[in-house]
Amino acid sequence: MKTIAHLSDLHFGRTDEAVVAGVREAVSGLRPSVVVVSGDLTQRARSAQFREAREFLDALPFPQIVVPGNHDVPLYNFFARFASPLEKFRRHITDDLEPFYEDEEMVLTGVNTARSLTTKYGRINERQVARVRERLSKYPDEITKIVVTHHPFDLPEGHDEREIVGRARMAIEALAACGADLLLAGHLHISHTGQTAVRYKTPGHSALVVQAGTATSTRGRGESNSFNLIRVKHPHVHVERRVWQPEGGVFRPASSETFKHTPDGWSRLSDEVAAGISFDEDGTGLQPAHFSFGRFSSAPCFYCCAGARKGLRGSF
Ligand SMILES: [Fe+2]
Ligand SMILES: [Fe+2]
Repeated sequence: MKTIAHLSDLHFGRTDEAVVAGVREAVSGLRPSVVVVSGDLTQRARSAQFREAREFLDALPFPQIVVPGNHDVPLYNFFARFASPLEKFRRHITDDLEPFYEDEEMVLTGVNTARSLTTKYGRINERQVARVRERLSKYPDEITKIVVTHHPFDLPEGHDEREIVGRARMAIEALAACGADLLLAGHLHISHTGQTAVRYKTPGHSALVVQAGTATSTRGRGESNSFNLIRVKHPHVHVERRVWQPEGGVFRPASSETFKHTPDGWSRLSDEVAAGISFDEDGTGLQPAHFSFGRFSSAPCFYCCAGARKGLRGSF
């Protein structure tokens, strides 16, 4: 099994220090295979804010896939906005705007969807899609293929359609052709999971869309700060939302969903089925559950056995 700590919309410059420390502690305790940050590392793309973001990333000594968001492009400095929009992001965070990670269970590739011409919305272009396709198409179906963007390919109900990344339909058709499994994004500051087949009607393929809320920003849009812990073991993916509990000063599991890959896409397992299985931390896949506790019943073994055995219990 492999794990992803999926963080988004950090917005340094507008954060709560206690929450920042809480995320750092939670992610460090989880020891994920990879940390994903799906954009908006800063509030206003200022050097001091990027330095804070850099310090935060340095405290998480795990492989990282980090992409910029619209807030990482200067808003008021027009010269910088159009002449070198991601100069500070490149200097402080990473010069690699197409980050890539692979292991024996999954591959992740990042795409920059932030643009100078729009202050809020984003876009993906044909060159970027071709690059993703080239990277992902050489892996077999048993490897879970993951694409990370800031702007989402899908929305929770009631959101403005313009929030969807520009040229999404073109991209989704190409991503379907190379078997992309998971599309991770942020931007809305709202947690969400969905299936691309519902919106895009791609026959024989459906990618799982997973959106993270804001991990550390004080602008939660009605949601508490949160991040996703994603467990990957073919053919299953388990998405668990960890939510900030101010009274305890910790992030705790709040909800979880388990999906199984089928020839047509991802099927969400019922709570009853999910309750009977659990990811085994030692990498042998799904095992019978030892016990269940309420709505977090799809990960009981991880909590009671493996987590405790590896000294992780305190981080749940
Ligand atoms: Fe944001
Ligand atoms: Fe954003």
